[in-house]
Amino acid sequence: MQGDVLMGSQETIYGANLAEMERLREEVTASLEVLRRQICEKTAFDPIEHILSRVKSEESMRDKCRMRGLPETAHSALVDIRDAIGIRVVCAFRSDVYLVRDHLAHLEGFEVVEEKDYIKNAKENGYRSYHMILRTADGRVPVGCEPVSAGDEPSRGFYIEVQLRTISMDTWAALEHHMKYKKQAPANERLIVSELKRCADELASTDLSMQALRDLILEEL
Ligand code: GTP
Ligand code: MG
Repeated sequence: MQGDVLMGSQETIYGANLAEMERLREEVTASLEVLRRQICEKTAFDPIEHILSRVKSEESMRDKCRMRGLPETAHSALVDIRDAIGIRVVCAFRSDVYLVRDHLAHLEGFEVVEEKDYIKNAKENGYRSYHMILRTADGRVPVGCEPVSAGDEPSRGFYIEVQLRTISMDTWAALEHHMKYKKQAPANERLIVSELKRCADELASTDLSMQALRDLILEEL
């Protein structure tokens, strides 16, 4: 989630949509801050450790278009690719992930168009997180994304990718990301991959124990 979008007079791949994208990013993160305060007041536990959000940088978006064989247009960036706006919510406990998920699923002005529960169904490499794709629900089409010919699938809004995970899942994903993006595969790659998987499973088991402890503490309150 690094890199902000280039601003200024230069035309970006997002065309005239950039300000609206930033506004939507802020709207969703602000709603999460409200939820956070409400839960803090009720339980004395902050459900959110931290939130990162970004509009994908010009360079990363152009790279992603090229990698997918898509033209570098607003349509590719906002309709074919759905993570131009990205939000990552890192929670202390596993149940908080689902609490935040429920909040987002009922967020006014947005609808959920995709959900992937990589927590209950971890990826083969051990990756765990809850992924959601939200879309604005007011039917507005981003500028430059109108259907060109009759058969075109219409774009029905702006997409936002949300990744929800615990601190342990986040730590693991950061390490695994480094490994994946190293220029050369290390000689002991197989060992590293299997050890990473073992760590992911151990962290998941620790997350469950920590959750049980927190539930016990909450019972006492
Ligand atoms: P993208 O083209 O990257 O959007 O992939 P996708 O459409 O198949 O979506 P998916 O929900 O699987 O992954 C979306 C994002 O989740 C990725 O861009 C990463 O940020 C993160 N992610 C998914 N799998 C992994 C993984 O195995 N390791 C790490 N570190 N991150 C992952
Ligand atoms: Mg994605």
